[in-house]
Amino acid sequence: MYCVKKVTDDLTWVGANDRRLAMFEGVYSVPAGVSYNSYLLTDEKTVLFDTVDKAVQQRFLENVTQVLGDRALDYLLVQHMEPDHSAAMGELIARYPAMQIVCNGKTAAMIRQFYDFDIDSRLHLVKENDTLSTGRHTLHFVMAPMVHWPEVMVAYDSTDKTLFSADAFGCFGSLNGALFADEVEFERDYMDEARRYYTNIVGKYGQQTEQLLNKVSALEIEMICPLHGFVWRKNIGDIVSKYALWSSYEPEEHGVMIAYASVYGNTENAAEILASTLRDRGDKTQMFDVSVTPASEILAAAFRWSHLVFASTTYNAGIFVTMEALLSDLVAHNIQNKTVAIIENGSWAATSGGLIRAQLEKCKDIRIIENTLSIKSSLKSAQLAEIEAMADALIATLPAGRVKEAKSETEAPNHIEKETMFKLSYGLFVLSARDGDKDNACIVNTVAQITTTPLRLIVAVNKSNFTHNMIVKTGAFTVSVLSESAPFRIFEQFGFHSGKDTDKFADSPYDVRTENGIRYVPEHTNSIIAAKVIQTLDCGTHTLFLADITQAFVLSGELSVTYQYYFDHIKPKPQAPKTAKKGFVCKICGYVYEGDVLPPDFICPICKHGVEAFEPISD
Ligand code: FEO
Repeated sequence: MYCVKKVTDDLTWVGANDRRLAMFEGVYSVPAGVSYNSYLLTDEKTVLFDTVDKAVQQRFLENVTQVLGDRALDYLLVQHMEPDHSAAMGELIARYPAMQIVCNGKTAAMIRQFYDFDIDSRLHLVKENDTLSTGRHTLHFVMAPMVHWPEVMVAYDSTDKTLFSADAFGCFGSLNGALFADEVEFERDYMDEARRYYTNIVGKYGQQTEQLLNKVSALEIEMICPLHGFVWRKNIGDIVSKYALWSSYEPEEHGVMIAYASVYGNTENAAEILASTLRDRGDKTQMFDVSVTPASEILAAAFRWSHLVFASTTYNAGIFVTMEALLSDLVAHNIQNKTVAIIENGSWAATSGGLIRAQLEKCKDIRIIENTLSIKSSLKSAQLAEIEAMADALIATLPAGRVKEAKSETEAPNHIEKETMFKLSYGLFVLSARDGDKDNACIVNTVAQITTTPLRLIVAVNKSNFTHNMIVKTGAFTVSVLSESAPFRIFEQFGFHSGKDTDKFADSPYDVRTENGIRYVPEHTNSIIAAKVIQTLDCGTHTLFLADITQAFVLSGELSVTYQYYFDHIKPKPQAPKTAKKGFVCKICGYVYEGDVLPPDFICPICKHGVEAFEPISD
């Protein structure tokens, strides 16, 4: 019996789920199964976007037959020739012998490799930027080599603004009756599987994924239809921004992943003590026993975290087998841009540390902490200092540590990373200042680079903010550039109270400061800028501070939050209380002014925005 899902009026999902598959591609465990997506467009011409794996071929064919009814299949569009999407081609040819196969030259060559049927008489070859009109719809073809095979291409339907994305934006896991990502708790229940899918399947090809993202960034996309996982029709930026981050090899989180291979628990013990030491100092950790956890999960975590520790016993004069396999996997997947520490163990001839180092040195931008901790059979109390030293070395390169490092230097301009300027957009920022013992901060939306030589920026600050007065008095401030992961609580913490009567940093677990002694926000931010005011301009409600940048550094590759992103994805929708008959609601913080007329000089008592931020409450 068929089981199909409507995507739009004339586009139907005709794929199928497989929960019996133990290992996807024979190597990736899929405990929640996997979906093989295929889409059937029923325009004046009918177009099938790829097929499915042979395991679900029967259900797929029932689905296609049901949706087509009496109609012929005019085109099979082959975006990707990997057999999990092309296994049903032979049966389709048998059922619909007149159909045309739309594909590029590389795909045609692969079809000949996999199949013996006559392809040449059916071939409709396309290349970059070619189009195919199917009636109401026009499909545009974009080549996407190595995302994830060389022949891959994606298709953009400019009529419905739908991107058929092949493997890109896919996810492990069955669909469980849903089809759209907004029907499920994607961030909570599926994002880890989306990361595991990307890093293991496409992770090696970050550069090629970036090229695809650049190509499609010019398109207006309202829906993404991948070949695995959910269809995206809302909050598309959520998955696109993750792909931008993952493909850049920038860490998603600052913290330490510790992977250990231990035969009798002594290497594990050293790893546990290191993790405990790091946690005691306020750093995040995640641990894996590589003999227990599937490598695909550890690989995904390795992409996620900024710092990695590998701890392995020596085995047959080499690295322990499961750790050796993991490291080979990481190297093969192009792991890069990590800070790494190594722990080795050996009862008579410890060699695993050097061998781990040699493996990782094959990778790009891997910064290995110089001293390997070498254990003979078990950790002794005399070596606890070495664990402390390793924790120190790791922490020194985490955000808080970077500040300690910077403070130990005397020439602040040496700490300006020019890439920090690339993080500035019309976004939202935590602007902090210090006056004596008083730390304070507020949220601002206008920070812009003005000149490169000397490196200067401007910040506009509402005069009613306490931070404003502190900057006027001290002439110094620090900007923390908020990233898209910033939760609403950060905006509440710094934006909805006055620093006159609140310690806005009271609940912050980090006391980290730029070299001017001013606190910054190390989480959910992607870069930090310290500056010294050289001029001010009175702009009425605001003061514009022109300042020399004295320190600037990048914390992560996360995208900066834009004003639009904040409104679309972070700020809860303002809800007028049911008791309010008439009034105005602040679009920024949700404050409600009750009354028929909003005074023209009214300032929101919560977030300090003026009347332009208010809108009438509608019934
Ligand atoms: Fe889902 Fe690369 O195939």
